[in-house]
Amino acid sequence: MKIAVFDSGIGGLSLLNEALKAFCGVDFIYFADNLNAPYGTKSKDEITKLTINAAQFLVEQNVDMIVIACNTATSAAICELRASFSLPIVGMEPAIKLGANSSGDILVVATPATIKGNKLSDLIHRVNLETKTRLLGMPKLVEFAQNMDFDSIEVKKYIKDELSKFDIDKTELLVLGCTHFNYFKDSFRELLPAHVSIIDGINGTIKEMMRKLGNISKFGEKNKLRYFSSYEEMDTKLIEPYLKRLDEMSKIS
Ligand code: DGL
Repeated sequence: MKIAVFDSGIGGLSLLNEALKAFCGVDFIYFADNLNAPYGTKSKDEITKLTINAAQFLVEQNVDMIVIACNTATSAAICELRASFSLPIVGMEPAIKLGANSSGDILVVATPATIKGNKLSDLIHRVNLETKTRLLGMPKLVEFAQNMDFDSIEVKKYIKDELSKFDIDKTELLVLGCTHFNYFKDSFRELLPAHVSIIDGINGTIKEMMRKLGNISKFGEKNKLRYFSSYEEMDTKLIEPYLKRLDEMSKIS
């Protein structure tokens, strides 16, 4: 069983990190389009083109499933991807549905492309959360993460300034609608009052993978991993520091 996990960069490692724990005997390929990141400030057409090209490459590696661990690429390109390729494709989306029973406001933070996209407004409409949901684009967090700057004063100031645009006392839920933002959970936690819960789309996406694959434990014991950065195969050692950071972050919510 071969599963490709795709993102514009290092954000999708947050999904991969949990998938490595949830599955066994899988040959994972992690594809980061680092040379073209960020996607979130590009047009829908550009994002779609880049995503389709990467998916074509992954199909040529004979993968059985592609997981789009990038909310931005899902928003822009999931329909075109499913129309172009016949293998199962799972797309990550902001986990707004988890806010269905929330009595306070829901703040979704994501890239500008995800915030502007029809896919997100359709989703909010479908779950009937229009009146409660606020949207905030935070493109600089993607740049910070790609530069491995997770903790600096600039990072904290940026998050603080952006959050101050909202009435945080009325907010009950912060939805991390970009996989790169998982690296900043500790800063969000530190800057938000304790009554605000922080959620991401990782568990929902893993459940969807399991639903599509059935019982995968039959495929063996150990997972394998290969890493491609914009079509060039790289040493998986390069992603270890990110996985370590994510393990620290995954305990925060
Ligand atoms: N990690 C991506 C997401 O989940 C997008 C980051 C970017 O390239 O702008 O939306």
